[in-house]
Amino acid sequence: MKEQLEQIKSRAFAALEAAKAVPELEELRVRLLGKKGELTAVLKMMGKLSSEERPVMGQLANSVRAAIEARLDARRTELEAAALDARLAAEALDVTVPGTKPELGHRHPMYIALDEAKEIFIGMGFQILEGPEVELADYNFTKLNTEEGHPARDWSDTFYLKEDSSVLLRTQTSPMQIRAMEAIKQPPIRILAPGRVYRKDEVDATHSPMFHQIEGLVIDKGITMADLKGTLETLVKSLYGEDSVVRFRPHHFPFTEPSCEVDVQCFKCRGAGCPTCKGEGWIELLGAGMVHPRVLEGCGIDPSVYSGFAFGIGLERMAMRRFQISDLRLIFENDIRFLRQF
Ligand code: PHE
Repeated sequence: MKEQLEQIKSRAFAALEAAKAVPELEELRVRLLGKKGELTAVLKMMGKLSSEERPVMGQLANSVRAAIEARLDARRTELEAAALDARLAAEALDVTVPGTKPELGHRHPMYIALDEAKEIFIGMGFQILEGPEVELADYNFTKLNTEEGHPARDWSDTFYLKEDSSVLLRTQTSPMQIRAMEAIKQPPIRILAPGRVYRKDEVDATHSPMFHQIEGLVIDKGITMADLKGTLETLVKSLYGEDSVVRFRPHHFPFTEPSCEVDVQCFKCRGAGCPTCKGEGWIELLGAGMVHPRVLEGCGIDPSVYSGFAFGIGLERMAMRRFQISDLRLIFENDIRFLRQF
């Protein structure tokens, strides 16, 4: 029996030594010390021993049990420490490895130009508005003094969304004049409304079926053409520099009277005429005018008390002039080599 106990002890020690992880130790504990374990089996045979042998063997068995238990605990501590070391090594972060730089984008040049324009107008007390791109013909045309049958309403120019021509993709941001007057009702009104507009145009260096406009509207008592000129000159000089030259040229729009178009002198040739301005010496920037009394009336504003001006700026054109971009298509192509320059 003594040999049996010694054998149990040495086999237990060998098994504990071979264990590689904490869960294995638990299995071993059951196998070595549990009720159905080898040691228990030996102890069960104690009864068959003589009364002299029994205490000696009992003591030996207890010391074997204690030795195995102690070794078990020691192995547990060792294996836990090893597991922790392995985890720390696996999770270690090498702070000396060069990082991957997140690539930061930036605003599109057209939106840089838009934000500059917004800043300028906010400084003059304008409020920024946005409105629908899918618009009622009523707002895009009728309420803007552009009756049925007017050539501007032609199917060949406008993306209509309904057979009866009542709903369309707005061809201009001018319906925002109507929406602003209907929403604010009581002048003074000073709004700026940027957004997309759509026309059936073929794509070329200066045309696209989708482009952007910035609509402006000012209504108050005693507003005159002088206010319009002053406001737009302020815009052009803030954007393009104090020395830029502005030209107001008579024009026609159904919803303004009188109407004009505003040109800036070509930045390349200073008015002499060159390929950039197509030999004109001037670059067209926007349409504007004094709000037609009929438009005011239609929106419930008394034209004998109030007057106002409106303008519509081509945003792409403004950005092209601002950043000296020669082809409109570059603005929409999203070629990263182009966009990186701004
Ligand atoms: N909506 C006109 C256009 O698209 C521009 C404009 C706006 C003219 C406001 C006068 C007043 O050409």
